Amino acid sequence: MAKIFRGALLFAGYETTASSLSCLLLTLLQHPAELAWLQQELDGLPWPPAQAEAVTAYDASRAPRLDAVVKEVMRLTPPVGGFFRRTRKPLALANVLVPADQVVQVSITASHRQGSGNEDLEVFRPQRHLSGTCTATLLPFGGGERVCLGKALAELEIRLLAVGLLKQLTLALEPDQDLTLRVIPSPSPKDGLLVRPHKRATVVGKGAALDAAAPDAAAPDAAAPDSD
Ligand code: HEM
Repeated sequence: MAKIFRGALLFAGYETTASSLSCLLLTLLQHPAELAWLQQELDGLPWPPAQAEAVTAYDASRAPRLDAVVKEVMRLTPPVGGFFRRTRKPLALANVLVPADQVVQVSITASHRQGSGNEDLEVFRPQRHLSGTCTATLLPFGGGERVCLGKALAELEIRLLAVGLLKQLTLALEPDQDLTLRVIPSPSPKDGLLVRPHKRATVVGKGAALDAAAPDAAAPDAAAPDSD
C-alpha cells in the first residue's frame, strides 16, 4: 500500500512538473516570436530572486507574460488529461441526466480546447490570457475539494526553473529528433528533448517594467491584439 502511495506521489509531484517544463521549453523553441516576447520581460526581472521574494518574484503581477505562457502551455498540453468524480445524486450535465453513483470523467484536455466562439484554440497564443479573451475553462490542477495539493509548489517550481534557464541560457533544439509527444502518463517528447545550451551574452538584471500586453518590436505577430 505504502509502495503504491509513494508511486502515486512520485507521479503527482514529479512527472507532472517535468512534463510542464519540457512542454514549455519545446513550445517556446518552436515559437521563436513568443520566446523573444517573453525574454523581453525576463530581461527586466532579477535573477536569482532575493531570498525573501523567492515565492513572489515571478508571480502574475510581476511576470504577466511568463504567467500567460505557463497558462497557455498547460492549456494545450495539460500534464494530467482528466480527473474523476462519482455522482452522489442524479445530476444533469449539459442536458444529459447522469444517475447517482456513477463515475464521471472530466476531460481537462477537451475542456481546454473548447471555447464559446471562434477562438483559435488549437494555436499557441499566450497573449489571449492577457487580453482576457480566452473563454475555455482552464482546469490544469483540477478543481473543488480535490484540487491538486501541490498546485502552489508546482506553479512556483515551473516559474523558477523557466526564469533561471531562459535568463541565463539560449537553447537550441538539436536537429533530427522526433518531437512527437507521447501523452501517457504525461505529455513529453517521446525520445526526450535534446537542446544545445549557450550562455546568454547579455548580463541582465532589473529593468523597466513592461506593459505585458503591449505590442512590441520583438514579436509583432505574437503581440498583436486578440481578435477573438
Ligand atoms: C504541473 C504540475 C501538476 C499538475 C498539472 C497537477 C494536476 C493535478 C490534478 C489534475 C489533480 C486531480 C485534481 C482533482 O481531482 O480535482 C491532482 C491531484 C493531486 N496532486 Fe497534483 N498536479 C501537479 C503537481 C503536483 C505536485 C508537485 C504535487 C505534490 C508535491 C501534487 C500532488 C497532488 C495530490 C496529492 C493530488 C490528490 C489530491 C486529492 O485527491 O485530494 N501535484 N493534481
